[in-house]
Amino acid sequence: MISIKPVTPEFVAEIGDVDLARLTDAVFAEIEAAFNRYAVLVFHRQPISEEQQLAFAKYFGELEFSPQPFVQTPGDKRRIGVGMQDISNLDENGKLLTHTDNRRLINLANQFWHTDSTFKRTPAKMSMLTAQSVSPTGGETEFADMRAAWDALPAARREPLEGLIAEHDYFRTRLMVGLDPESISPERRALRPAVPQVLIRTHPANGRKSLYLASHITKIYGMDDAAARRLVDELTEHATQPAFTYQHHWAVGDVVLWDNRCTMHRGRPFDESQPRAMRRATISDVGPTVPENWHHAA
Ligand code: OGA
Ligand code: MN
Repeated sequence: MISIKPVTPEFVAEIGDVDLARLTDAVFAEIEAAFNRYAVLVFHRQPISEEQQLAFAKYFGELEFSPQPFVQTPGDKRRIGVGMQDISNLDENGKLLTHTDNRRLINLANQFWHTDSTFKRTPAKMSMLTAQSVSPTGGETEFADMRAAWDALPAARREPLEGLIAEHDYFRTRLMVGLDPESISPERRALRPAVPQVLIRTHPANGRKSLYLASHITKIYGMDDAAARRLVDELTEHATQPAFTYQHHWAVGDVVLWDNRCTMHRGRPFDESQPRAMRRATISDVGPTVPENWHHAA
C-alpha cells in the first residue's frame, strides 16, 4: 500500500511508500484513486529518468503531442528528449538562456494562472513535472483548486455560469509576455487557432464541478467583450484566493502531478542567473470539452 498524507484536507496529498521507477498496475490504481480524490499529488526523492517519467505518465492516458508554433532553436535542438516539455531556463547545451531567447519568453507565460493546453481543442488531462535543478530563490509553483472555488460560489452566482463557453487562445498569454505580434504569421496562427472550452466542467471520476479558467481566455461567446473580461477576471481572483491555493517549494527529485481538469497553476518568478530545470510530461484528455460540431450562433 502506498501512503497518502494530505497536505491540505481535500486538494494536495503527498504520496509515499512507492518507487516510481518500478510501478505496477496495482500501485498505479492506488495512485489514480488519490489523483481522483485530491487533484495535486507530490512525491519526494524520486529522481526518475526521462523514460521512467514517460512510462509513469502514460498510465494516465495518451501522451500529448504539441506542434510548436515557433521554431525554438535552429534545427530544433533539444535539451531533453522528444515527448516532453522543457520547463527550464537552459539551452540544449545546459547553458542559461539569454534574456531575449524565444524559449525564455514562451516559458514566461507559465507565470500567469492557467491550466495546461486549454488552447487546444482537446486539452490536457494530467501534467507531471519533475525537478532536476531548483532555484535557490523563488520558482515555486502554485496551484488553485477550481472545485473548491466553484463550491464556494453562492448558488445565484453559479447558475448563470452553467453552459457558458469561452474562447481560449495560445497567443493571448504569449503577447502578454512580449511576443512580437508581427511574428505570428498566418502559418503560425494556423498551428494554434483559438478554440472553445466550457467554463464549468464536471469531473468524470468524482462528479465534482469546477470552474475551467485560464489566462488564455479571450472572450465568452454571446457576451460583450468588456463584460466577459470582467467576469473572467473576477472568477480568476475568486479562485486564486489563498484559501483555495497551495504553493509548492521544489526540491531536486520532486515529482508533482496535477489534474488539469479541475485546477489552475502558475510558476513564480525566480533568480534567472541560476539554473532551474524541470521536465513536463503531459497527458491529453479523452476529447474536447465542447463537441467538435459546435458552432457559435453569431
Ligand atoms: C508547466 C508550468 C510552472 C512552473 O510546466 O505547465 O506551468 O512553475 N510550470 O514552471
Ligand atoms: Mn502549465
